[in-house]
Parts: sequence; C-alpha cells; structure tokens
Amino acid sequence: MSTVRRIPVAGPWITEKEVAYVAEAARTAWYEHANDFHARFEKAFAAHLGMKHAIALPSCTSAIHLALVALGIGPGDEVIVPESTWIASAAPIHYVGARPLFADVDPVTWCIDAASCAKLITPRTKAIIPVDLYGGMPDWDALTALAKQHQLAIIEDAAEAIGAAYHDRPAGSFGDVGVFSFHGSKTLTTGEGGMLVTNDDYIRDCVLKLRDHGRISGPKQFWNGEIAFKYKMSAMQAALGLAQLERIDELMHRKRQIFTCYREQLLRHPGIQLNAKPEGTTHGYWMVTAIFDPQYGRTKEEWMQELHVQGIDSRPFFYPLSSLPAYQKEPSAQGAQQRNPVSYYLGTYGLNLPSAMNLTPTQIQLVCSAIDKLIEAKPQKRAA
Ligand SMILES: Cc1ncc(COP(=O)(O)O)c(C=O)c1O
Repeated sequence: MSTVRRIPVAGPWITEKEVAYVAEAARTAWYEHANDFHARFEKAFAAHLGMKHAIALPSCTSAIHLALVALGIGPGDEVIVPESTWIASAAPIHYVGARPLFADVDPVTWCIDAASCAKLITPRTKAIIPVDLYGGMPDWDALTALAKQHQLAIIEDAAEAIGAAYHDRPAGSFGDVGVFSFHGSKTLTTGEGGMLVTNDDYIRDCVLKLRDHGRISGPKQFWNGEIAFKYKMSAMQAALGLAQLERIDELMHRKRQIFTCYREQLLRHPGIQLNAKPEGTTHGYWMVTAIFDPQYGRTKEEWMQELHVQGIDSRPFFYPLSSLPAYQKEPSAQGAQQRNPVSYYLGTYGLNLPSAMNLTPTQIQLVCSAIDKLIEAKPQKRAA
C-alpha cells in the first residue's frame, strides 16, 4: 500500500545532537544528577535572553498559570488578552478565578492593540497578557506605557516567538514575566514543555515554591507551606531543550529561509498579506501566515480544504476567543464582534501555511503554485 507524503504544517528539526543529549539524560540524570540538565537548560535559556531567571515547566500553559498566581491575581480581578490567540493564553485566567477581557489586535502586526486595551480597563483590571503572535512583535512602547500608567502587570506570552526582537530586546523580556512554549510544533521543542522567565527575585521564589506543591526548603522533608501545584519538566525534556537551544541560530536561520522563500513567490499577489516586520523589529516567523483578500472569494476554511485535497496541510488563523463556544457566556464576549473587527476579519480570511522545520524549497514551491492556481481558477469578486 503506498502512502502519499503530505506537506506538514509544523514539526521540529531534530539532529543526532538532540538524540545524544536525551540518551545521556536517560543514562545519567538520576540520583544526585537528577536536576543537572534542568540547571543547564535554565541557565543557558536565561543567558540567551539576558534575563536573571528561567524556570523550566511542563508547558507554557502552566507558566501562565503560575505567573498569574505569583502576581497575586485572583477572584474579582480582570486580565486583558487579545482575541487572536490560542485559548491557552486565556484559560489560566479562569484557573485563578479571574475574568478575561478581550481586546482587538493590530491589522499589521496581528498582535494586541494598546488603544483597544485602554478602552477595556476598569478599577478591577490587574494585568495584560500580550501575545507575540506567530513570532510577530506588538507595539511594546505603547503597551508598556499603558501598563505603567494604569499599574498593570504584564505577562508576555512569547510561546510562539523565540528568536523575535523589538529594538534589539528579545521576545519574552518585556513583561514582569515572559513565557515560552516548547510544544512539538514550536521552533525550539522539548516535545511538550515551557519556560517562565523573569528578572524579579520575588516572582522567581514564588514560582519555584508553587510548582513543587508549596514545599518549604529546609531541614524538614515533605513540609508544605501551602496548597500549590506539581509542574515540573523531565530531565529528558530539559536535555532535548538544551540541545535545541545550542542550535538556536541554525533553527532561526531555517525559519527565516522558509519565510523568505514564500515571500518571494507570493509577492506577486497584492491580495495576500503575510507576517509583518515593522521597522526595528525582528520576526520569529514561527508560522508563515497568509491573510487572503476577500476578493479571492474564499474563506479560510475553503482555502484550507482546497489545499488539503492537494496534500497540503494548513491551520486556521485563530478564531477570535470571544467567538468560541467555550466563551459563549463570558461577559466580555458580548458585543465583541462589533468591538473587535480586526480579529474577526483575520479570523475569517487567515491561515497558517506549511512552516515545518524540515520543509524543502520544492515543497514551498508546490504550496505557492497551488495558491497561484487557486487564485487564477476562481473569478475574483469584490468584497461586500
Ligand atoms: C500563543 C500561545 N500561548 C500559549 C500556548 C500554550 O503552550 P503549551 O501548549 O506549551 O501549554 C500556545 C501553544 O501553542 C500558544 O500558541
């Protein structure tokens, strides 16, 4: 039976280095060496970002959860999140009993819009969770000024943005806390995993305690000061992450190559908007993303279906959070479609094109010529 190889939307680049590190962890990371790979990975990650502390965790979701708890956010509080993101940016707000407020995103960067945030702030608003969407950078000057003015904490969701920068400052370093995901689809992966970074000693101490069932370190064993959580990465994952981090320049170079290859071929279509890199920013290009003008006559689901039948995988641009069944009863979701038109537009016409680390130029060419043909095949019509 022959199997047709599909063009994958996401996936890692694993070499013998990663295999060797994981094997070494499986052989040696026990007894007094149980935490050696965590320590090396955390130290190297903090140094890479120029941050004081990095704490390895089982996921980015757990990192956002711990950040909210460490910042003292709880019942009665509100936290602003962008509409266009994975639900993991917002779900932990509910874990701590607070409520999300949904802000619109910028039409160019697709990241949270500071002016939209400003309209949502009430005396109960305690924090903003800006997301570096698909490796892009929001307007950090506007966001940090707004947070300062209203004394709001910032948790930077850099889950998708390793390698991105804003005026030479790396993604993940803009908030009180920054968080990363190392899910298997990410540029740097540990299979599943996450990292929390901060320059704040209090937050670091808090997170170290909270992730280990509130254990108090000292002479007494199994002595817990509070009810907390169990969020730890395994040594094998830390070893994989360390090997990937030591190859970060190579990984980022590949992401940039993939994006450039698409851009050169899709540039001829004025109705396709690709990831933007405003002056002074560096894009992480986690996912090459295309917004197709409505004049092409297809929604994102129709584009995805057309590509799917040709063996090309893609992903929908995130549906606005307020449109999800999970948020039907959320107060901030009421009237959100009118308030947040950009997120609703992008969520109707955008999709992530194949961006896997092992993609070949020939595969990218295949995707682009499939798009060319679809654009030619469909008579163009004006958007209503
Ligand atoms: C923007 C964003 N935030 C948070 C997460 C959650 O990451 P994890 O799956 O590691 O919990 C993701 C995961 O893909 C994400 O894309």
